[in-house]
Amino acid sequence: MKFNWNYPTTVWVGENRVNDISEACKNLSIIRPLFVTDKNLINLPFIKNIISENLKKFDKLTVFSKFTGNPIGENVEEGVDEFKKNNCDGVIAIGGGSALDVGKAIAFMSGQSRPLWDFEDIGDYWKRANEKNIPSIIAIPTTAGTGSETGRACAIINKENGTKKIIFHPKILPTIVILDPSLTLELSPRLTAATGMDALAHNLEAFCAPSFHPMAEGIALEGMKLIKNSLLTAFNDGKNLEARRNLLAASSMGSTAFQKGLGAIHSLSHPVNAQFDIHHGLSNAIFMPYVLTFNKTSIEKKIVSICDYLDLEKSFNSFLEWILDLRSKLNIPNRLSDVMDCSNLNLDELSIMAFDDPSTSGNPKKISREDLKLMYEHSISGELFK
Ligand SMILES: [Fe+2]
Repeated sequence: MKFNWNYPTTVWVGENRVNDISEACKNLSIIRPLFVTDKNLINLPFIKNIISENLKKFDKLTVFSKFTGNPIGENVEEGVDEFKKNNCDGVIAIGGGSALDVGKAIAFMSGQSRPLWDFEDIGDYWKRANEKNIPSIIAIPTTAGTGSETGRACAIINKENGTKKIIFHPKILPTIVILDPSLTLELSPRLTAATGMDALAHNLEAFCAPSFHPMAEGIALEGMKLIKNSLLTAFNDGKNLEARRNLLAASSMGSTAFQKGLGAIHSLSHPVNAQFDIHHGLSNAIFMPYVLTFNKTSIEKKIVSICDYLDLEKSFNSFLEWILDLRSKLNIPNRLSDVMDCSNLNLDELSIMAFDDPSTSGNPKKISREDLKLMYEHSISGELFK
């Protein structure tokens, strides 16, 4: 079954649609693509196959893969050099969130003269960009979590201060997205769980963010339903194509919805991901119940309406129980201290970074640095807010 969607961008959905890369390039007049994937993926047989198939179809195809998870600014610079040196005219980004973010950032930066950090997602910094020379981007996710393929931003770490910066521009949104569930069949249960919980965090935080955006809320609700119906299935039976397809859709929907806003789950996660290399989806899953209970007075009504749509008993506690049960069935630990040594953590420093994160402004309850520190403390002790 093949589907073509045009919102929020063109999305080609279906098993083996990865075979349509050359057609996508043809549609976008890309003849010398830069194929961007990460150092780990480049050695996997399915990526090698995709590259060798496409080498036959293009006169020139350049591969860039000199980076791993949690990419830094220098990775993007190197990719831009490669793009220019080979006279590329478009980017095919394939992989998890890091690969897609690096691919998007390379395409964007290939047309800019200012440094990457000048385009951080602050105010209207994005208007500093030269829009004319941004080449087309084709994005193909191999995990179902970040939803980077339908996002207008990318997360890149600034090595100088160890912070994850969000780089934003409307034209960072890929022009064609290929959602091919066959590419996610080999994803381990551990990664399926962590990335799936990231997608859930996007849909949940977007739904609860206080601004007016009913379109985003509708997408977020359906995204959560897809996750409720498919995440455990894919975790227990990785080869279930329908569950894999549903999770890819939910992931793309999450990032579409979070233009409405995110919240403290992401504020707490970003510093921990950047400083200690903890998987983003895993930290989101850990922080989720602590943030939910902290925000309870501001989100109770909204959570009850989610329960209504997800066929849960209509109460805040039943939603919380569902999250706790889902986490435990996905083998996700309950506390931050279960996944890293927290004995010497500088919580003051971490909570300042969390407070300064762009996600903080979307939290439904107005929060201070002290509140974020308190949430870190609870996530370390394992005590939910009363
Ligand atoms: Fe996320």
